[in-house]
Amino acid sequence: MIERLVDPTVPEEEIEAGEERVFENLRPRSFAAYIGQTALKDNLAMAIQAAQGRDEPIDHVLLYGPPGLGKTTMAGVIAAELGTGFKVTSGPAIERAGDLASLLTNLAEGDVLFIDEIHRLPRTVEEVLYPAMEDFGLDLMLGKGPAAKSIRLDLPRFTIIGATTRAGALSAPLRDRFGHVHRLEFYEPAEMREILKRSAGILGMHLDDAAADEIASRSRLTPRIANRLLKRVRDYAAVKGDGVVTLKLARRALDLLEIDPLGLDASDRRLLSAIIEHYQGGPVGVETLAAICAEERTTIEDVYEPYLMQIGMLERTTRGRKATPKAYLHLGVEPPASN
Ligand code: ADE
Repeated sequence: MIERLVDPTVPEEEIEAGEERVFENLRPRSFAAYIGQTALKDNLAMAIQAAQGRDEPIDHVLLYGPPGLGKTTMAGVIAAELGTGFKVTSGPAIERAGDLASLLTNLAEGDVLFIDEIHRLPRTVEEVLYPAMEDFGLDLMLGKGPAAKSIRLDLPRFTIIGATTRAGALSAPLRDRFGHVHRLEFYEPAEMREILKRSAGILGMHLDDAAADEIASRSRLTPRIANRLLKRVRDYAAVKGDGVVTLKLARRALDLLEIDPLGLDASDRRLLSAIIEHYQGGPVGVETLAAICAEERTTIEDVYEPYLMQIGMLERTTRGRKATPKAYLHLGVEPPASN
């Protein structure tokens, strides 16, 4: 596993060291403060208003899309807008049906239970979740063998918000139980600038517009990366400058971090140049790319590829991945005539 500054996922060590808390402070807590994802916000705001009019919890929500775009943040905002409790867990953390039962029985009426990486829920747990999501009931088996009895517990009415980077990995019966299914999109450059200006304000930094745009353009249209780079630039400004972040200073700081003007780091460039240099631009199978990059196949698919495809450097075809002419241009390699 390679450590990357532009990795949009949250590394375990960062969570343990409390680094994630810095992002916590930067997280918006209302639709009004949440920049971008406008269609999603409009849909959810309407669902919330309608449900509140009926005095019901909102239907279960599934949020999917690449990491770092604000699925957890959006879930927190939904709970805050509803004015309900917000509990956070993840698919791999719920190992047994009993773990889920204890989470569900501890919810209060209307609470939001956020399940990150919901595609990693064990099957046995999923089966307990279905009746809970559908009828707010929990079927428990008491005892063992022929004397075993099944009883049904009534649960408070709650809302599950599930998040996943891979909607395709979700079983159909689970996916069907979500009333709202939304994809989070990459942010527009103007939204990235706004997010950076907001974060800089919270961190008490002087960040001028040109510097904000420079950090934005190297942040892969992903707020989590933008906020991480912003902190690195802040450190650089404190040591090498007078604390004010200008365009020139931001460029120097980001160059030092080896993140190029399109936000690609050495690993992305290695991936693209392997396709170009060793496989004549592709197609190459994803397993081969994973081996070249010393990464898991899922990391290639969920972390590397979405942004490279978004900016038009990589194409997914049925026969494998292909580098586009734009990738050749970016790496300074002459594209083949047929391309
Ligand atoms: N910080 C991280 N993501 C954000 C967003 N979408 N809006 C405002 N601030 C953010």
